[in-house]
Amino acid sequence: MRTSRGPLFEAVSEGDAPRYRQVYRQIREAILERRLKAGERLPSTRTLASESAIARKTVEEAYVQLEAEGYIVRRSGSGSFVAEIATMQRAYANVKLAGRRTLSKRGRGIAASTTCVEPTIVRAFGAGLPALDAFPIDLWQRIIARHARAMDVHALVYGDPVGLPELREQIASYLAHARGVRCDASQVVIVSSSQQALDLIARLTIDPEDEAWIENPSYPGARAALTASGAKLVPVRVDEEGIDVAHGVDVAPKARLAYVTPSHQYPLGRTMSLERRLALLAWARRADAWVIEDDYDSEFRYDGRPMPSIQGLDSAGRVLYVGTFTKVLYPSLRLGYLVLPPDLAQSFVNARAQIDGHAPTFLQGVVAEFIREGHFGAHVRRMRALYRGRRDVFVDAATRHLPMLSFPMLHAGLRATGFFDDQRDDRAASRKAERAGIDAPALSRYYLGRPKSGLVLGYAGLTPDAIRRGVRELGKALR
Ligand SMILES: Cc1ncc(COP(=O)(O)O)c(C=O)c1O
Repeated sequence: MRTSRGPLFEAVSEGDAPRYRQVYRQIREAILERRLKAGERLPSTRTLASESAIARKTVEEAYVQLEAEGYIVRRSGSGSFVAEIATMQRAYANVKLAGRRTLSKRGRGIAASTTCVEPTIVRAFGAGLPALDAFPIDLWQRIIARHARAMDVHALVYGDPVGLPELREQIASYLAHARGVRCDASQVVIVSSSQQALDLIARLTIDPEDEAWIENPSYPGARAALTASGAKLVPVRVDEEGIDVAHGVDVAPKARLAYVTPSHQYPLGRTMSLERRLALLAWARRADAWVIEDDYDSEFRYDGRPMPSIQGLDSAGRVLYVGTFTKVLYPSLRLGYLVLPPDLAQSFVNARAQIDGHAPTFLQGVVAEFIREGHFGAHVRRMRALYRGRRDVFVDAATRHLPMLSFPMLHAGLRATGFFDDQRDDRAASRKAERAGIDAPALSRYYLGRPKSGLVLGYAGLTPDAIRRGVRELGKALR
């Protein structure tokens, strides 16, 4: 039997521990880590014993122990099930939760948000994961090993909250060259993700009830960060040219900031026109507003050259540029960066220091070396070619199996946004896909009012075979 994260029991040696303890411990862990859900049926002792090549008596002993400790319930005739209370640590079981236990109003708002749930497994068509199967893991391990060997006790002290100087230098020169960003290393602050960058910006620029323009539809992570800081979100229309600045000026001329994804609008995939970029900057200057430029996947454009950043056009220092290594390297790295106007940099560094100090120095050093040795540039070029091929596979499969969806914007990025021609209920469609084992988030989820109907499908992280299979299955589920 397998859980969503792998086999329930692996017949691995655990030293001298009795065999039944090993079985017991692995199942208990699967329950506590919620890989096995409350109410889920366990395989019979006979099945598990034969699948794992261990004696049935051993499995029986493990089940008896799990039952005695309340992790599972055994019902004669119907089988063994994960118990409801089993997900609670037994060490805490007799504590009575007493007294008033409410969070703050702001805290309740944050806790109720489920907007930032990222995929923890690779499967069709989880939101925009990069091709982890093509990551140069051997090379990465060699650089890590070299760093580990060179490490001495001086490396163990706190690092500077602004980030590692070598990495900031590398990022500044990469952005100047690849994205037309005008900056030097003193403006670059290393953060643990673009999510942390957005959180910092929101904390430092927003007072409760301040208005903030947000593209409609928009990236849920940005909505979550701004809402948590008490911003009043003002959804601003997006059309073929990107955010409709005139609409924004109409509905909230005095907003404190605007959040935009100009290179590759999230999730519609459009590129913001030069005219709109200039209009946005002109408004920001007039209104003393900030522009958050989230440049999360601009490296991956398959037809034509990417348009340089808005930051490079800004002559008034109103743009806060946000970047991440999530798409170009891998998500669990948790490293991103902010490029700030010089007068704001120190405030952000101070705030960063209050929140969690700094990103791990060791990994910052590894990334700096990866870039310095030229591997980063090579990796981006290789991935761009790979994703272009996967995009073509996706288009080919979608043309055959997804006639109910049209995909007008497939020139860039790691995902495809499809529109239902018949305007069907996309959340119901997404649930159908889920029942077929496919992640296919509904496009309407990304809107604040007046949604369009469609699905957002991340394909670039999947092998061509997985793309074809996923599209075929999705087609079946939606028919
Ligand atoms: C618009 C946008 N910004 C940023 C990110 C990445 O964020 P992080 O650096 O927090 O992993 C994503 C990931 O899906 C995204 O879609």
